[in-house]
Amino acid sequence: MSTTTSANGADEIIRLENVYKIFGPQPRGRALKLAKDGLTKNEVQAATDHVVGMTDVSFEVKRGETFVLMGLSGSGKSTAIRTVNKLHDITDGKVLVDGTDVQRLEGQDLQKFRQKMGMVFQHFALFPHRSVIDNTGYGLKVQGVDKDQRDKASLEALNLVGLGAFANSSPSELSGGMQQRVGLARALASDPDVLLMDEAFSALDPLIRRQMQDEMMAIQAELQKTILFITHDLNEALRIGDRVCIMKDGAIVQVGTPDEILTKPATGYVAEFVQDVDQGRVIDVSTVMTQPVKVDRSMSAKDLLTAIGDDGGFVVDSDGRPTELVMAKDVYSAATNGDGLGAAFSAEFDTTTADAKFNHVYAHAGKGKILAVTDGDGKLVGVLKPKDMIEEMGRVESLIDGFEREVFM
Ligand SMILES: Nc1ncnc2c1ncn2[C@@H]1O[C@H](COP(=O)(O)OP(=O)(O)OP(=O)(O)O)[C@@H](O)[C@H]1O
Ligand SMILES: [Mg+2]
Repeated sequence: MSTTTSANGADEIIRLENVYKIFGPQPRGRALKLAKDGLTKNEVQAATDHVVGMTDVSFEVKRGETFVLMGLSGSGKSTAIRTVNKLHDITDGKVLVDGTDVQRLEGQDLQKFRQKMGMVFQHFALFPHRSVIDNTGYGLKVQGVDKDQRDKASLEALNLVGLGAFANSSPSELSGGMQQRVGLARALASDPDVLLMDEAFSALDPLIRRQMQDEMMAIQAELQKTILFITHDLNEALRIGDRVCIMKDGAIVQVGTPDEILTKPATGYVAEFVQDVDQGRVIDVSTVMTQPVKVDRSMSAKDLLTAIGDDGGFVVDSDGRPTELVMAKDVYSAATNGDGLGAAFSAEFDTTTADAKFNHVYAHAGKGKILAVTDGDGKLVGVLKPKDMIEEMGRVESLIDGFEREVFM
């Protein structure tokens, strides 16, 4: 199959050219004409009772790129992704994948074409009576791949998402996050060129969601798939996207790198979206925190250090609220000074909440202590480690103006 090379020389795999999608009984009638004349989604709807899903949408995705479509509910993200594998017919324009005019594909050709696209949705339904590995290989089964071969591919995919050990489990034994991983494994099992991910992580808890983002980025670094990823969360978009496309009312408002979106918003709409983002606020505490290690005072120095590594852990009360912090370095010095281990525990520690903005807490990294992250009830739900905070600040460094890095030096 031929590939298209865009003007700047990068190999491009998906291209939408002036695509319109109108929903209604006569999509190609007056509604399309008005949309082409530049009327907005609301104006077209008021005049014709037709819904504009996409209006004059053009973008291209490069091979190996993670391209994120971001926008509020109803902005046309799902409509756009669905035109790429022809789950939707377009009303006007052109969709090219790997040089193929998608709109012209029918029957067997279309089926074959779709096999090169892995799709992952927000709510991924597993067959409850099939094992994890059979669920993973389901797409391959539909394609007529024999059992040995599909088990091999499924196991490889499950290993990639960290679920190899659960191959023979039943879906009911998996958490929501793990089930979503099976969705990703199913998409990966047929070794697609392109992954289409529609709000794939949106239903997950912040912590699990961040883990999934990390894993997906690691898988992406290894396999170099092309990923078209949809989210309505700007944090997620900026975190994982090589480029981000912001949509509003079926139209594209801006396409750019996370940097460009943040520093050169194309319109007031984008500026408003990112206004809270410019000072490192792009990140919620929940996106930086990691699983807390819980310890108790009866543990030996060895057990404590095994549990907390080079970091720290918290003692929690019967309601799960943090009461004392113990840092590895204090365990060492208590052991060396012969002070007794109790001296390593301290009721003085800082606390923040999962939904707080990262810029309000990053200065704490300078204290060299881990921060407790609590939920609305004061329960310990995560920790912020100084080294993770510094790493995160380094990652967004280029996005942030005037950030006082001396704090960490
Ligand atoms: N099958 C359909 N029939 C009629 N209208 C539709 C259909 N699918 C989508 N639309 C309309 O097209 C517009 C874009 O919808 P779309 O699902 O693409 O939005 P979205 O950005 O994915 O939103 P969300 O974040 O809620 O998933 C909306 O106004 C929606 O009501
Ligand atoms: Mg959608």
